[in-house]
Order: sequence, then structure tokens, then C-alpha cells
Amino acid sequence: MKRILLDCDPGIDDALAIALAHGSPELEVVGITTVAGNVGLERTTPNALSLTEFYGMDVPVARGADRPLLRAPDTASTVHGATGLGDVVLPTAKAEPDTRHAVDFIIDTVAASPGEISLVAVGPLTNVALALRKEPRLAEWVREFVVMGGSYTRGNLTPAAEFNIGADPEAAGVVFDAPWEPVMFGLDLTHQARATSEVRQRFVGLGKLQEELLSPCLDFYGSNRQYRDEGPAIHDACAVAHVIAPELFTTVRARVDVETSGRFTSGMTVTDFAPEAEHNALVATALQQRAFWDLLTEAFERVASSMP
Ligand code: BDR
Ligand code: CA
Repeated sequence: MKRILLDCDPGIDDALAIALAHGSPELEVVGITTVAGNVGLERTTPNALSLTEFYGMDVPVARGADRPLLRAPDTASTVHGATGLGDVVLPTAKAEPDTRHAVDFIIDTVAASPGEISLVAVGPLTNVALALRKEPRLAEWVREFVVMGGSYTRGNLTPAAEFNIGADPEAAGVVFDAPWEPVMFGLDLTHQARATSEVRQRFVGLGKLQEELLSPCLDFYGSNRQYRDEGPAIHDACAVAHVIAPELFTTVRARVDVETSGRFTSGMTVTDFAPEAEHNALVATALQQRAFWDLLTEAFERVASSMP
């Protein structure tokens, strides 16, 4: 069984990524850390706590950075709603966040089990960058580092920048410059993971999970202009799915550099697939869609059948 630590900004697709991790017998979720991103930290942290209680998870949630390293905070509330979960209102969680800052939680958790923790980041990379600055050995201690962010074609925050990278490019620069090999799930890959009406049909019958979370969240998320035609892209679940079943993805070694100074290109992940480039990342390029949705549906079925 793999042990996963998820750094996130819930967020609708983050909520689905948490459910996938919880519902997968191949994974043990050892912690969830929150960061400002889709909405402010004052929302992402309660959302993470409420989601874990809704799913019936017993896992610590640690609150992280409330703003990017250098820049003014931006949000994606037009995509995820003012609360981060569309129109869904979950009960307020009974649990409190872990007493540690997310940065210390990440360092402590990985340091306690070197070579064992899969660190997966599906929000802006502020916490991960701060953790690397505080404890550079994090890069050698993780089992693997998987990130949802970037693109090798075009962005969604701007024509050049994907949201998670564009929201905090300086942090992303620190993360991609560290001596590890991030597995990057950019938009080119995650736009292959669309919750079409056929996919959503498979969630029918999942009771409270479907009625109170999946359906209203996906209705809201899918109504966004960028997703109307083919259904919303479930970006963050792709990164978690790679930890469970890497064989579902094609990955290619590449050089990824984060643009931090471009007037029009700030936050762009400049990706060079040339064989002679000094590769620093594995970039996901293709997804086996049927098997991916099988994985998600089966995980959601397990979550639905064990919810409180
Ligand atoms: C990423 O940005 C957020 O809005 C999503 O949760 C995802 O992590 C996609 O660009
Ligand atoms: Ca996210």
C-alpha cells in the first residue's frame, strides 16, 4: 500500500481527488494540507475538514500558506464558486486543523518515513516551495512527487499559464528547480479526463455521495464556459490516479522551466521534450480514459458504501 500526502485547495476537482484517494485500497491517506488557491485559505481549510468528515475519513488536515510567496492572491471562484464547492454546503466539521503549519506537517511526515510518502500537490505550490526551502532534503526523502499544474500548450488562467502555476509562479519555480523529478499533470493531460454525461451516468446510485456532492458539484463546475461542450476536466484526480495506477498514463521526460518574469507569459511551464534537453520532470501526455473512469467509479462506490 502506498502512503499519500495531498496538498490541495478544495476546490471541486480537489474534492473528487480526495474521494479517489480515500476510496482506493492501494492508498493510505496520511494527511491533507491546504493552501490558498481556488478560494482563500479561510475556505479551503474548512472545505478539506468538512469533506473528510463527509467521506468518513480519519486523517489530519493541516492549514498552510494563505497567499503566494510574492504575489497578490488570485482565486478561481468563477470556476469553483465563492465557497470553493459550487452550491454545495457541507456541515461544518467537528474536527480542528492539525496544530502544525502545513509546511511543518509535510516535512515531519516525509522525514518520519523516508522513501515512503507520495507527495501529491494539486493547488498552487506555495506550501511545497516553503517546505523545500525549510528542509531541502524533502526532495530526496519523498517516494515520488506528483503535481497537477502547468501545460505544454496553453493555459487556463491566461493563454500561457495554468492556474496552479500562474497563481504562484515563484513557488513553482522553486519546486521545478529542486533536485527531484516531478511528475507533471498539465492541462494537456487533464483535459482528457472529462466528466461527460456518460461518465456521470456511472455515478447514479451512489446515494448521498452522488446526490449531495458529485451531482451538484459537477453541475456547477460543468456550467463554466470552458467546460460546457465536453464536460468538466477533473484535473486533480489525474495526479492521484497516477500514484495508484501509473500504467494508465503515458509520460515523457522533459525539461520544465517556469516563467516568472514574462509580461504575457508569467506562470508558463516552458517544456522542452528534446532528447538533449536537461530533463528535470516526467510530463504526462496521454490517458487511458476508460480505465481511468473505472478507477474513479470503483473508488467512489467504496466511499459511498462506507460514508457515515
Ligand atoms: C487546477 O486549478 C484549479 O482550479 C483546479 O482545482 C486544478 O487544481 C486546474 O487548472
Ligand atoms: Ca486544485
